[in-house]
This record gives sequence, structure tokens and C-alpha cells, in this order.
Amino acid sequence: MEKKTALPFNGTKEQEAQLMAVIESHKNQEGAAIPVLHKAQGIYGYLPLEVQQMIAEGLNVPLAEIYGIVTFYTQFSLYPKGEYQIGVCLGTACYVKGSGDILEKIKAQLGVDVGECTPDGKFSIDATRCIGACGLAPVFTVNDDVYGRIGVDDVEDILKKYM
Ligand code: FES
Repeated sequence: MEKKTALPFNGTKEQEAQLMAVIESHKNQEGAAIPVLHKAQGIYGYLPLEVQQMIAEGLNVPLAEIYGIVTFYTQFSLYPKGEYQIGVCLGTACYVKGSGDILEKIKAQLGVDVGECTPDGKFSIDATRCIGACGLAPVFTVNDDVYGRIGVDDVEDILKKYM
């Protein structure tokens, strides 16, 4: 199946100016990459390759090193979040009740993987740890809406509400 993850990067000049100021203030500091990446994610909401490139050049660090950090730490995201952020709980209680199958169904339905966003910017999918609603297992959330005790067959109808 074709992957539908490539959203065009459309950062603004203002965002770029903010990022440059952050880079400038961390230049020549040991271990600057992680704090700069954190701030860059705050500015852009995610860390596309274009932003990683600016950071690599600005800090004079190889792009491969920046990319390695971004893909290693789960708090960094290569993709923007969707208007509707789906979180599927893969905590133990949910997992034993089939949340893995629910996640697969959501991925198939939207044509994107965990951590990715649909090309129209509407939906992104995350796998989460226990969200403290184990009594409702299996659970998934769409922004602040919580869906519990659901089966794979319920997924399509729930997602339709947001389309
Ligand atoms: S394991 Fe899913 S809510 Fe606790």
C-alpha cells in the first residue's frame, strides 16, 4: 500500500526566525541538539527534515546525528499531529482485550501508521501507555473523547463521526 505521510513543509518566516534565535542562543554549547530540538518542536509542532536540516547547519552537527536523536526519543515527532489525534492504549489491560487489533484496524482505515498523520492533516495516530481507564478496556481516544469496551467492528462508525 502506498504510504500517505508526506505533508508538504510550510513553515513560516516567523517560525524560521524563532528557530534561528534558539539556535543562536545554544551555539557552541555542549549537548545543544536536544534542547534545540525541543524548542523547535514547540515552534513547528513537529520536526520535519527541513527543520532538522536547519538545526544541523546552525549547530554545525551532521544531519545524521540530528535525525538519530529525533528517531530515538519518542517525545520527538517526525510528523505533524492531526486535527483529530487518535490515541490507542496499548497498556496491558487494553492489550489483552484486543487493542492491538483495534490499532491495526484504525491504521488500515486511515492508511497511515503510528506516529503519522493523514495527508489532509485530519487524523494522526499514536499508541499510548495506560491512560488510567482500564475498567473500560480496550480504550482509544480521539482528542478528549474516550471510547471504551469497543470491538474492531465499532472502529469504522466511530471514525466516521470525525470525517
Ligand atoms: S491499560 Fe488501557 S487504560 Fe489502562
